[in-house]
Amino acid sequence: MCGIVGYVGGYDCKDVLMEGLSKLEYRGYDSAGVALHMGRDITVVKAKGRLAVLKEKLESKNLPVCHCGIGHTRWATHGVPSDVNSHPHSTPRVSIVHNGIIENYGKLKEDLIKKGYEFVSETDTEVLVKLIDSCYTGDPLLALTRALALVRGSYGLAVLFKDFPDIVYAARRESPLIVGFGKGQNFVASDVPALLKYTREYAVLDEGDIAVLTRDKIDFYNEFGTPVEKNHLTADWDMEAAEKGGFPHFMLKEIYEQPEAIQKTVGPRVQNGLPDLRIPQLSDEALAKIGRVHLVACGTAMHAGMVGKTAIEKLARVPAVTEIASEFRYRDPILSPEDLVIIISQSGETSDTKAALELAKQRGCKVLAIVNVVGSSIARAADYVLYTYAGPEIAVASTKAYMVQLSVLYLFAMRLAMAKGKLDEAQARRLTAELLQTGEKINGILENCDQIKFLASKFMNASDLFFMGRGFDYALSLEASLKLKEISYIHSEAYAAGELKHGTISLIEQGTPVIALATQKDIYEKTISNIKETKSRGANTLLFTTQNQPVPDGVADYVVRLPEFEELFMPMLLIVPLQLFAYYVSVLRGCDVDKPRNLAKSVTVE
Ligand code: F6R
Repeated sequence: MCGIVGYVGGYDCKDVLMEGLSKLEYRGYDSAGVALHMGRDITVVKAKGRLAVLKEKLESKNLPVCHCGIGHTRWATHGVPSDVNSHPHSTPRVSIVHNGIIENYGKLKEDLIKKGYEFVSETDTEVLVKLIDSCYTGDPLLALTRALALVRGSYGLAVLFKDFPDIVYAARRESPLIVGFGKGQNFVASDVPALLKYTREYAVLDEGDIAVLTRDKIDFYNEFGTPVEKNHLTADWDMEAAEKGGFPHFMLKEIYEQPEAIQKTVGPRVQNGLPDLRIPQLSDEALAKIGRVHLVACGTAMHAGMVGKTAIEKLARVPAVTEIASEFRYRDPILSPEDLVIIISQSGETSDTKAALELAKQRGCKVLAIVNVVGSSIARAADYVLYTYAGPEIAVASTKAYMVQLSVLYLFAMRLAMAKGKLDEAQARRLTAELLQTGEKINGILENCDQIKFLASKFMNASDLFFMGRGFDYALSLEASLKLKEISYIHSEAYAAGELKHGTISLIEQGTPVIALATQKDIYEKTISNIKETKSRGANTLLFTTQNQPVPDGVADYVVRLPEFEELFMPMLLIVPLQLFAYYVSVLRGCDVDKPRNLAKSVTVE
């Protein structure tokens, strides 16, 4: 979603802001802008479109060097993408950039109009800047605390006041914001990559916090204006991890980083050949008491949860349900204190997922978060955290984060099964050793991806496409279908293979592409029958199965063979060619692979 950068220091702040915003491009945006302190004036430059448009506009103005400013990439929520709706929004005294949504903006706007304010944009952010202006009597901190107390909704904010030329103000509620500490310079940003070129030392603002940044220090206050202290954190990501490193796209780079990410995530959690969650409160004794598991997430993370659910039920025989966070939060779910709620999120900032977490806590459940971003809101709000060590995931389409979510869910399922007495030590040892082998197997698949490129060229012109599978393969069908849709814009549907004939098979006609996933031996023949049903209606079929499975004649037009491996972990292998398939189709269709239209990396609004 939207990105924020703010800077005060010795460099030309135009350069720092543009550099920082370019590192946030991956979050998705449709317009961009900056506000620059020029002595006792604030100059605002903003434009619809990519950063290149803003850069050109900035250069054409020949502005002098300046040392304090704020910048923004906007992903439209209130009002279409346009120059006027883009941020910063300003009054003669104040300029702001804003991530999030002001829910009561309608009422606030009415009150401000009565006070004589006029509005030019359709945005809630213009309401916010005018609200801050209306509370300003010469003390910026007071203006912010007064104005923000009147606001309902979410905000990450960076603010300039005309009368305070070398100060950036920042504030957050329900929208992530960090500050970065430099020498003789300080930063504010919505995400770590924007800072990495300049500093790795940062602090996370908590709910309601306000930060005041000058060149030499950052002061922190709570929502009432009382000074507070912040812990300093160090980002363990480096610049290289946030660069393409020779790959044409971040998505491809991230697909290739999966074996390493698994090693980093699983390795430290294996002790003496057995899974060890390394969370004292989740000892075997505590795990044995869990009555039911709810896995709650959105999108790809929810698809990881579906694999986790199947693994938990297969191994531990504990009832598990996967829930879409945006449904869970509003459907008054039945939860009991013996239930464990597992919240899964790459960013740790997804609005619906965060709300689901809060609901689970209110209902007295313990919450385990599986999160990639250290110090994110979800990580901080959960009772326990299992971090996935995927490093920064820049491509909008999630790949390596999904992979490590799976690996952590398998570790959890195995340990739970041991605690419940459903998996003995010898079995657990064998499975753990297999899990540690997945990286090597994936490397083998990555080395032989020519067939996938060829198949991408065969299917790239499809307008509708079906994925199907059973059990784990159904969960993978959903993820494969989502990957293809989001980056190639081909319509596709994922079906439980046995369900197709209950309606959707009417859509199968001569040449309809059907991609079937069949990696589980006990249900293999069932899926083969379902493929036959589509084949006999003219489908063009592509089957993903394992090396030694017999494929009857006349079932599949194309077959992709994966190495024989422990079936439980086949999802981790199978997803790789499916990610590559989506990637190559997207490249062949000339799509913007890393920044697909309308999408944002971290969905911080409902
Ligand atoms: C798809 C994708 C999204 C995210 C979803 C949740 O490739 O990335 O579906 O999985 O928006 O995001 P997180 O995991 O950050 O909560």
